[in-house]
Amino acid sequence: MNSANGYLSGFGNEFATEALPGVLPVGQNSPQKVAHGLYAEQISGTAFTAPRHSNRRSWLYRIRPAAMHHPFRQCEAGAGFHNRFDEVPPSPNQLRWDPWPIPFMPTDFVDGLITIAGNGSAATQSGVGIHVYTANTSMIGRFFYNADAEMLIVPQLGRLRVATELGVLDVAPLEIAVIPRGIRFRVELCDPQARGYVAENFGATLRLPELGAIGSNGLANARDFLTPVAAYEDIDGEFELIAKFHGNLWTATIDHSPLDVVGWHGNHAPYKYDLTRFNAIGSISFDHPDPSIFTVLTSPSDTVGTANLDFAIFPPRWLVAEHTFRPPWFHRNIASEFMGLIHGAYDAKAGGFVPGGASLHNCMSGHGPDAASFEKASAADTKKPDHIQDTMAFMFETRNVICPTRQALDSAQLQKDYSSCWDGLRKNFSAPATP
Ligand SMILES: [Fe+2]
Repeated sequence: MNSANGYLSGFGNEFATEALPGVLPVGQNSPQKVAHGLYAEQISGTAFTAPRHSNRRSWLYRIRPAAMHHPFRQCEAGAGFHNRFDEVPPSPNQLRWDPWPIPFMPTDFVDGLITIAGNGSAATQSGVGIHVYTANTSMIGRFFYNADAEMLIVPQLGRLRVATELGVLDVAPLEIAVIPRGIRFRVELCDPQARGYVAENFGATLRLPELGAIGSNGLANARDFLTPVAAYEDIDGEFELIAKFHGNLWTATIDHSPLDVVGWHGNHAPYKYDLTRFNAIGSISFDHPDPSIFTVLTSPSDTVGTANLDFAIFPPRWLVAEHTFRPPWFHRNIASEFMGLIHGAYDAKAGGFVPGGASLHNCMSGHGPDAASFEKASAADTKKPDHIQDTMAFMFETRNVICPTRQALDSAQLQKDYSSCWDGLRKNFSAPATP
C-alpha cells in the first residue's frame, strides 16, 4: 500500500492523515472538486445527532466511492460464522473448550471464523457475537466488512497484518485490534498459522471505562491506542467483497481494491492496543477487588454501569494482599463471562484451561478456583508477595446470557468433564462440639 508506515496515537481522537500531500480539504469536508480527482465520502458510526463525546464519523477521500461494486448475493461459504444464538437452549452448566485446531485446507480469516456463542442481535443493536478464528492463509483477492458490529480481534497465535480502508494495522498476540462497523479490510498472515478470538459488538462503540476514584491515569491509558496513518491501493482487477449484514454473509464482485482511501479525517477509525501496556491496579492491603478493575474497553448499555460488553484482561501483576485468598474468589454473577487465554496459565485454574481454549460461565452459574488452586492459595504465605508472570487471560463479559451455538456444543473441543475440576473440594466444616 502507498503510505509511510506509522500510527497516530490517542483513543478516539479527531485524526487527520493523508498519503499524498494536499489531499485533505482545508476548512471544509466536501469541496466542489477534491484534490487529485478523488471522491469525498462520509462514514458515520453513530447517529448524526449522538452527543459530541460519543459521536463517531470519518470523512474519506478515495479513488472510487464505496457504492461501486456489483450486487450482493447471499454467501454459500462461511457457514460457521453467523449470529444464530437461539439454536440450543442455553444451559446453566459451566463449559470449557480445548483450543480449536488449525485447518489442513487453505483457510483465511473470514472462512476460518467459527461462532462459539453470543446474545442479542444486529437488528436490536445490542449484544455480542463471540467467535474464534483459525487460519493458514491470507485473504487473497477478497475484502470484508461488517455492517452488524465493530470487531474486537484478539490474536492468540500468529501475527496479522490488517489492511483497512483507513490504513494498516500490524497486530501480534498480546495486542488487540478494533475494526469499526462498516470499515472494509483484508487480513494477511505474517506467520504460517493464526488463531484468536473475535467479539462482534452490536451495541454502543467500545470506549475506555470511567476511572472514578482511580483518578486521571491507569488501566488502559488513552495515549497507548494507535490508529494507522492513511494508506491506499490503486489496483484494478477482479476482487470479492464480502459483507456481513443482518447476521448473514453476502458476496459481491468488485473491479478494484476498496482500500483506495488516499486521505481521511475523523474518529470512526480502526485502532490497536498493546495489552502489556495495561496498568493493572489492585489491592495493596487485603481482599481481591471486583474484576471490573481489569476492564480495558467497555460498550455501555442503556442502563448506567451495566455494560453490553466489557473486555477485561488478567495480565502479569504482583499479588500482595495479606490474610487474603488471593486468586479470584468463588462467585456467581448476574453478568455472563466468556474467557479466553492468550498466553501462559490462569491463576485460578491448575490445568485444562489452555492458550487458544475458552470457558463460559453464565449468569448465576457457580464457579471459581479449582480444587488444586484452592489448596495452594489457602496454604500460601501471604506475608510474601507473589509475582504472577508470563500470562494473559481475557474476558468478554456481558449483561445478557451468552448462548453457545450448536456447533460449539457439538465440537470435539468441548470438555465433557470440566465441572469435575471442583470435585476435589473437600467438606472441611465440622461444627464445634456442644458443651
Ligand atoms: Fe467469573
